Amino acid sequence: MAIAREQFNSRIGFILAAAGSAVGIGNLVGFPVNAAKNGGAAFLVIYALFVVLVCLPVMLAELAAGRHTQKNPLGAYNQLSNNSSSAGFSFWSLGGWLALITPYMIAVFYAVITLWVLGYFIATVSGDLDQLAHDDYFSNFINSKSIFVYLAAVSIIVSAILYGGVKNGIERAAKIMMPMLFIMLLCLVAFVLTQDNAMLGVKFYLIPDFSKITPQVINGAMAQAFFSLSLGMGILITYGSYMKRTSSIAFSAKMVALTDTAVAFTAGLMVLPAIFSFNPDINPDELSNSSISLIFGFLPKIFIAMQTTIGYFGASVFASIFFLLVLFAALTSLVSITEVPISAVMDEKKTSRKKAVLIIGATAGLIALACSVSFGMVDSLTNFTSYGGQTKSLFDVIIDVFYDTILPLNGFLICMLVSYRWKKANFDKELELGDPDYKGSLLERYVNVSLTTFIPVILLLIFINTVLLKFFGISII
Ligand code: TRP
Repeated sequence: MAIAREQFNSRIGFILAAAGSAVGIGNLVGFPVNAAKNGGAAFLVIYALFVVLVCLPVMLAELAAGRHTQKNPLGAYNQLSNNSSSAGFSFWSLGGWLALITPYMIAVFYAVITLWVLGYFIATVSGDLDQLAHDDYFSNFINSKSIFVYLAAVSIIVSAILYGGVKNGIERAAKIMMPMLFIMLLCLVAFVLTQDNAMLGVKFYLIPDFSKITPQVINGAMAQAFFSLSLGMGILITYGSYMKRTSSIAFSAKMVALTDTAVAFTAGLMVLPAIFSFNPDINPDELSNSSISLIFGFLPKIFIAMQTTIGYFGASVFASIFFLLVLFAALTSLVSITEVPISAVMDEKKTSRKKAVLIIGATAGLIALACSVSFGMVDSLTNFTSYGGQTKSLFDVIIDVFYDTILPLNGFLICMLVSYRWKKANFDKELELGDPDYKGSLLERYVNVSLTTFIPVILLLIFINTVLLKFFGISII
């Protein structure tokens, strides 16, 4: 007899786990810097509109598809499209496969970033902040032997959490790490705001400049909102399958979206004032677009500059808390994304959780290892291929394809599946379970119209635009 599917224990447990998935490196650094460069509050408003008008309905679609089918993304696609044999290949199972391969590959490169964060955290705690601030520290570090130890540590932590299962692993880890993350973030904000010139950063962040809002900025805000909320990654389908039928999907989704956006917003009150208070003349346009170079290259320089006011020890404490915060954000995301292929192996191959964790942990760990040596250590992986006029490493290719490009396509497919194969009425029924107020609500009417019409169109356009720009150097907007 089949064993009952695991479930989250409580509503707050689910919300923290899903918010833990959504809150990541992008929220803490990428979002604030992007906002400061692209019109401050004007960007924030556009971002928030996208979260509510486009992302929330897609969240509902993913969660409902997961909870209704009680399956991983591949199983969910097959069941909702009435293609019961998972071996048979249909257009819809292609969507299911994409919703499995995408998280698998994201897990691989996110593990590499997480191991770097762990390395930086350990370095700051051991008093080496001054070294982190050197220009060549990062490139030396990522090519040093110590990364193997950190990769092993990250793999063990994540596997141990996932081995614990939904309640005792994922939910428990989120219940510990997320509140700590909120507290650390608020402490850092409170401290930074007391520094000289901090208000310059706040001004840059919050004063709207609508002249900066171009079609590219709008496209970027949309793509950022979409990926920030863990959409198109199969995560919410999987987490939805662990939700109780007595709880409201809409309420939980709103809380997750709110938490993710609030953390991103609050992080701006930490990062920008910190940058400005130690660099009052900086022009945000000069800051890198990449969260990676900001976290590992630029911010350590800001942290070390803090020693003039709070001493080396104080600056090291600040930096350690910052890296621990980023580490928690990264770990909870990594856990959620690795759970997707694990649940697929458990469902489709009928294996135990233990075996599934081993299979996915070992194979993804190996590919992560290949990625982690693609920064110079192994030449064939460093100069892996080239397109768009640039040489790309294995790590770059995985980010370009699975993080920067494919998510809106996955989002498009789930909208089509839910709207046109599963059908609106069934979708509505699932959302009404545990939430009698959903029936007839404004949200219901909005979701029904938008998910069948303009949301898939927008997602498809973003996908096409990104492919043309990234791989062919053609800009259509
Ligand atoms: N918001 C995340 C970030 O900022 C993006 C993300 C969402 C993510 N879900 C994820 C990353 C799962 C990795 C795994 O990085």
